[in-house]
Amino acid sequence: MAFRLGWKTSRSHWSFLQAVSSGFPLISWRTAGSCLDPEMKAYLEENTEVTSSGSLTPEIQLRLLTPRCKFWWERAELWPYSDPYWAIYWPGGQALSRYLLDNPDVVRGKSVLDLGSGCGATAIAAKMSGASKILANDIDPIAGMAITLNCKLNGLNPFPVLTKNILSTKQEPEY
Ligand SMILES: C[S@@+](CC[C@H](N)C(=O)[O-])C[C@H]1O[C@@H](n2cnc3c(N)ncnc32)[C@H](O)[C@@H]1O
Repeated sequence: MAFRLGWKTSRSHWSFLQAVSSGFPLISWRTAGSCLDPEMKAYLEENTEVTSSGSLTPEIQLRLLTPRCKFWWERAELWPYSDPYWAIYWPGGQALSRYLLDNPDVVRGKSVLDLGSGCGATAIAAKMSGASKILANDIDPIAGMAITLNCKLNGLNPFPVLTKNILSTKQEPEY
């Protein structure tokens, strides 16, 4: 899910997210790039395929689980991590990403939060469409790594990824 946070109307929400992120695991481009565990990176690369076909956004390349990957066929319980939702480019995300790429005015110059970012495609589409600030959020830390890899695939400087459940965080009331 992604939505736009306009500075004028929603600065307080963005500030809230910044405050939230300061206390929680926030993977930034520099830290994610350098702290990507080499073994984990190798595992993700070995068990995914770079693809840009078969989705609504062929201009975005992603590392995904495809029929050419072992775990497309392998028993799911042999996958050593949490369910890899990030390895699928879900239809809703495809439609939203297509919409952003076709209607860049929706996000150009805006701050965008991609909640439940998964592979990061919608955040990537927002960045490609000119969003000035991106925060990708997914509760799966491996999604955070996949998003970083997918940014690089598309020639983008990876944006911050917050791997905390912000839906369970209470916001102080505004007076
Ligand atoms: C169906 S996938 C969609 C991923 C991506 N947006 C797409 O369209 O391809 C849902 C994603 O939401 C993440 N998720 C589930 N609960 C969440 C929460 N409370 N906060 C952030 N992410 C969450 C999951 O880890 C998963 O990657």
